[in-house]
Amino acid sequence: MTKKQIIKKTAKHIKSKLTGEGSGHDWWHVYRVWKNALHIGKHESVDLFVVELAALLHDIADWKFNHGDDNVGPRKAREWLEKSAVDEKVISHVCQIIKDASFKGAGVSTKMKTIEGMVVQDADRLDAIGAIGIGRTFAYGGAKGREMYNPEIKPEKHASFEQYKKNQSHTINHFYEKLLLLKDLMNTKTAKRMARKRHKVMENFLAEFFQEWKGKN
Ligand code: NI
Repeated sequence: MTKKQIIKKTAKHIKSKLTGEGSGHDWWHVYRVWKNALHIGKHESVDLFVVELAALLHDIADWKFNHGDDNVGPRKAREWLEKSAVDEKVISHVCQIIKDASFKGAGVSTKMKTIEGMVVQDADRLDAIGAIGIGRTFAYGGAKGREMYNPEIKPEKHASFEQYKKNQSHTINHFYEKLLLLKDLMNTKTAKRMARKRHKVMENFLAEFFQEWKGKN
């Protein structure tokens, strides 16, 4: 199989696996991350094959839905890539990226080891902010049965991954605990530029949300 065929087959596999997922980690999330990663990757010197595979496989099994086990994703990605006869070097690079890429709490460092990893992490984070990020955040909160907002519960910055995983607070807090922090965590220049615009969209949304909450407009 050529690299192009492997990418195509992987996209098809993930699409069939994640279509209809209702918490914002569906196929179309993966599709947007894939496209963003390609866009960012073209401005950096990267192995685009690794970038595309890692973007496509990054949510194959998310720890948030696997009782907190963050090894399920890399394991499933490895099974798939071995079946597709991908080089071991590429497989271990892709699995390392999937393991490192997810956000584990404001106080937990998740530094990527390679430029390919940085590109995929940026692409995933871009999809968590801006207009799409707002939509996904409420979808995720709904899927988890969370309150939309409760002014009596203040946001916390989680110092460990354990604490972040246990977090049960309302959806608006998620903006303060994660989404508004992402702009400054982007690795690449291209993603930094894209994040600035999306960050503004969230700030405007929150300002409007609190105005309406207080009944002032
Ligand atoms: Ni993702």
